[in-house]
Amino acid sequence: MEIKKVVVIGSGTMGSGIAAHLCNANIPVTLLDLKTEISEQAREKIHKSKPPLLLDKSKINNIKIGNISDNFSEVAEADWVVEAVVERIDVKHEIYEKIFKARKKGAIVSSNTSSIPIKILSQNLSEEEKKDFCITHFFNPVRYMGLLEIVKSENNDLKKINSLKEFCETELGKGAIVCNDTPGFLGNRVGVYAMQIAMTEAFKMKLSIEEADAIFGRPMGIPKTGIFGLYDLIGIDLMGDVLKSFIKELPEGDKFHEVAKEIPLVKKLIETGYTGRKGKGGFYRINKIDGKKIMEALNLETGDYSPSKKINIKIEKVDLKNLINRDDKYGKYAWSVISKIIKYASSLVPGITKEFNDIDEAMRLGFNWSKGPFEMLEEIGVANFFNKIDEYENNDFLENLEQSKNEDFYGERQKYTKIETLGKVKKTAINVDGNNSAKIYRFKDYNIVEFTTKANALDYNSMDALKKATDKPLIIINESMQFSAGVNLSYTMEFADKGDFKAIEKFIKYFQETCKHLKYSDYPVISAPSGLTLGGGFEVMVHSNFVASHTNIVVGLVESIVGLIPAGGGCKEMLARWLDTEKAKQDPHYASLKVFDIIGYGKIATSPVEAIPMKYLKPEDKKIMNRNSLLEVSKKILQDNRDFKAPAETKFNLGGNLVKEKMIKILEKLYNDKIILDHGMIVGIELANVLSGGETDIDKTLSEEDLFKLELEAFMKLIETKETQDRIKHTLATGKPLIN
Ligand code: NAI
Repeated sequence: MEIKKVVVIGSGTMGSGIAAHLCNANIPVTLLDLKTEISEQAREKIHKSKPPLLLDKSKINNIKIGNISDNFSEVAEADWVVEAVVERIDVKHEIYEKIFKARKKGAIVSSNTSSIPIKILSQNLSEEEKKDFCITHFFNPVRYMGLLEIVKSENNDLKKINSLKEFCETELGKGAIVCNDTPGFLGNRVGVYAMQIAMTEAFKMKLSIEEADAIFGRPMGIPKTGIFGLYDLIGIDLMGDVLKSFIKELPEGDKFHEVAKEIPLVKKLIETGYTGRKGKGGFYRINKIDGKKIMEALNLETGDYSPSKKINIKIEKVDLKNLINRDDKYGKYAWSVISKIIKYASSLVPGITKEFNDIDEAMRLGFNWSKGPFEMLEEIGVANFFNKIDEYENNDFLENLEQSKNEDFYGERQKYTKIETLGKVKKTAINVDGNNSAKIYRFKDYNIVEFTTKANALDYNSMDALKKATDKPLIIINESMQFSAGVNLSYTMEFADKGDFKAIEKFIKYFQETCKHLKYSDYPVISAPSGLTLGGGFEVMVHSNFVASHTNIVVGLVESIVGLIPAGGGCKEMLARWLDTEKAKQDPHYASLKVFDIIGYGKIATSPVEAIPMKYLKPEDKKIMNRNSLLEVSKKILQDNRDFKAPAETKFNLGGNLVKEKMIKILEKLYNDKIILDHGMIVGIELANVLSGGETDIDKTLSEEDLFKLELEAFMKLIETKETQDRIKHTLATGKPLIN
């Protein structure tokens, strides 16, 4: 079955997200709502969305819009009709009647419901119609969340379900997991339980909301919004509705009921309009005191707000064993929460799915956890877990495991897909090597380097691992959210605070040396980025011989924002790319000025479509919708380049003072217009110096080494200034830029 056209009905949060993503995949799509004005507004929202739902905003009009009265004939042309109307069974039943009357014979009809069982959704359908009806449960925001749960029933034509799954994997890039018709399916059943247990245990153990969020967050491999932050983000009222629906659907004995009871404080928040970020605030709120915005946190015992406290539990990396064994309230909370999540998730096998690792994948792709419950169990260790656990009842999975004591119970990962993913391949490495910042997986014909630091920030060790791994073809790839957010600024600031600038210089030189080595080593190097690929992360990518990029990439050289300039060859490579254009051949200043504009403003691209015009990516770089496929594509590049020869060194002819003067004029205008301040001017001048080639002229040829030298000099001058250090400290503390 081929899907050539899709109609999405209901243009709210989910319908518009689904339509936008179909547009990303170049599938003709029509978005219908009660009135055309509603779908029109939805299209405007898509256009303005941040982070953007579209890979290419100029394609917005490829999403056709209309209303269900005048434009229903669109349904007759669709191969797949997605219903994403409000979560009301009467409304859904009514729309199905219309759809099935109008649809093309054999076309798939699916619902995006998050809680209504397929049995109930399809109760009015004929046997023939039931064959083609299923649930396709996308997650919000659709472009960015990897999970798609496809819920089938026993009536389904399985061939059709499988071809839908394949379409959603290859064309839409989703991790499509087929699951049974049970309440909340996989992701929400376990994810919402996890949220509830994290919340109720915080109440019970008298942790503050900041403390709970500091633990049920990065230390557990969970996004830093934590639990209370996540509640505020989703909407406290919406979570209330979700819980009610679980209470209604789940059988009496289900442990979910224990954690889903209404909490008086939460009820009061909803009643008083404290529904989270969209309302007056929630567990956190922004309060204005003396004209200053202050983040406040709710006291769970008194219900009062006070300024939010930063909790530092001094954990940089996910290390569950250490975390649960800590002899303090944080360790106790972590164990209580993790052990209960493991108990609950394992009690659901095989009822909700026979493959326990599908639950892990659902948590990974639908909630951005770095490990699901079973991987947590694997990390804690089977013997360790059973030593610590008090009781569990009616849990065949744990009973069997306690008997078998099999530490290797996990077996293969990502069983839901046939794709040869990084997660599957890592387990088959001949040898695993590496250090604190990166792992090297060695195979017969190639190596993989996976960065392992927070946001994959780069330091000396990361460079060491890269260098060491070039003794074979190398693929730089990882499974976390970001490819790399850039050089580790905390690490750099530690040296700066001690006045040890020699150490910083040594690091930058090593960074440059490593990047050059990646480009010119005997074997090909491939970067397979997804997520943030910024600053130093971009520099690693740009020095790779090939790139296989996920379509969800945020790429750019953003150093100027923290008062620095790219010094790992970022300026150099961007110049090389822009010099290699027709315009640069006619105008000797063109490349320098272009790169000055891009790096000076710290411009970023939020997709390959945006990255190519800036030359952050090349047209020939591979762009891949399904993140799972990055490894397969990278391996194919290796196969196709068996005769790889390292490229010739780039030569640079740059305008020197003549072009630098032009850049300074631009800076002066920005300064006079107060767009940049004193330090902005200084950073701009240093950047201008590098991009103009320093003391040179257009007839003089500079080498890559010359450019590295210029970058290093400028970087060192800037890092030694108090103003750059202030910028870095401010950004590290607040995540925001400081304009000075
Ligand atoms: P929403 O409230 O943002 O949008 C619903 C849209 O349906 C509105 O534009 C409304 O005008 C339209 N509508 C209502 N009756 C209609 C009809 N008879 N014909 C055509 N359009 C009609 O809702 P949202 O959040 O987009 O949810 C849609 C579905 O997706 C629900 O079933 C929900 O449970 C599910 N879902 C929601 C998620 C979320 O994060 N919001 C996540 C996953 C699933």
